Amino acid sequence: MSTPLPRTILCVVGARPNFMKMAPILAAFRHGSTPINAHLLHTGQHYDHTMQQQFFDALGIPRPDTDLGVGSASHAQQTAEIMRRFEPVLRKVHPAAVLVVGDVNSTIACALVAAKEGVPVIHVEAGLRSYDRSMPEEINRVLTDQLSELLFTTELSAEERLTREGIDPRRVHFVGNVMIDTLRDNLSRAIPAERQLAAFDTDIQARAAADGFGIVTLHRPSNVDDPNILEQLLRCLTETTEQLPLIFPLHPRTRDRIEAFGLRGLIEGSGLLLTEPLGYLEMLGLLREARLVLTDSGGLQEESTALGIPCLTLRENTERPITVEEGTNTVVGRDVTAIARGVKEILGDRGKAGKIPEGWDGEAARRIAETIGQWLADR
Ligand code: UD1
Repeated sequence: MSTPLPRTILCVVGARPNFMKMAPILAAFRHGSTPINAHLLHTGQHYDHTMQQQFFDALGIPRPDTDLGVGSASHAQQTAEIMRRFEPVLRKVHPAAVLVVGDVNSTIACALVAAKEGVPVIHVEAGLRSYDRSMPEEINRVLTDQLSELLFTTELSAEERLTREGIDPRRVHFVGNVMIDTLRDNLSRAIPAERQLAAFDTDIQARAAADGFGIVTLHRPSNVDDPNILEQLLRCLTETTEQLPLIFPLHPRTRDRIEAFGLRGLIEGSGLLLTEPLGYLEMLGLLREARLVLTDSGGLQEESTALGIPCLTLRENTERPITVEEGTNTVVGRDVTAIARGVKEILGDRGKAGKIPEGWDGEAARRIAETIGQWLADR
């Protein structure tokens, strides 16, 4: 008698941007016409309550079946430690496939272990490219795609990029954007900006009521690890707050660098309002009412496009070109003159209006579950 084929999909999360991508996939696995069994594994790459547990709670993600508890380290150490701890779990769970999302170190580490064990890899958010190999995430993207059996893409142009890298287009499935599934599912629960602004001084509240407010996030090593670059960016942002207050939730990396480089004094007393990392519903509530977003995050470029909020990306490139071609995003780099010009245009109502890209319709996870269900049935 032949042993039955494994049917469980081992789903990997590790860092903050993974959680909002995995939530709708797990829900679609549970509620699809043919439910798919998931084993949820958290590598523990992000471990602070503000960086992980509050997302599990807000998005109703089940408690992980396995937590590797890896934590922070250098790239090599972190990636190696995830691989070392993941291999025995993979052998024990013996899944039909390992599903990874995005481009963080947890993504490549688990994809590499699975591929070498002969377990098919499924990559959600495949085919995004900045063509900037100095970004660790770009290396993670290229290698994960090479290792994957099923590649789910968020934008149509991704297939051509993957084909150019020698990937068989029959493995590529355009399904849309799971991040936007989560955004649409949670808009009605988002915490109103007014309630959040009540935490600030009354003069800030009055300014925000009169002029509106913007949101800033920065955490890319290229922006925050060099003291001169970080100082220049913070000066530019504090100058921008003469026009409108900017709420700046601090990623732990950025908070550490601001302290280490002695830059906190530069910000104090300005309209640059530092906060702890925000929860998903808090960020969504602010985002939908913001006048503009200044960011180096990948997710915020997409979320601002989905909500029609103008976004200036403080990087030299983006791996998400559709947010520029069709959405509200403009890549301004780190040039402070370009940033100031971009802000002026947006506040003068000359920001990009944009439209919502194809497939960003709240149904991406359902399409993923259907394709995986078919793939399991066809084996
Ligand atoms: C990682 C991802 C990046 C993603 C980002 C979102 C990689 C290569 N990078 O970058 O793509 O956009 O997550 O946040 O995987 N730290 C804490 N608490 C935490 C997590 C991190 O204090 O919960 C601190 C640690 O001191 C650590 C630093 O933040 O050294 C960086 O964490 P790490 O996971 O290495 O990378 P991120 O910069 O967060």
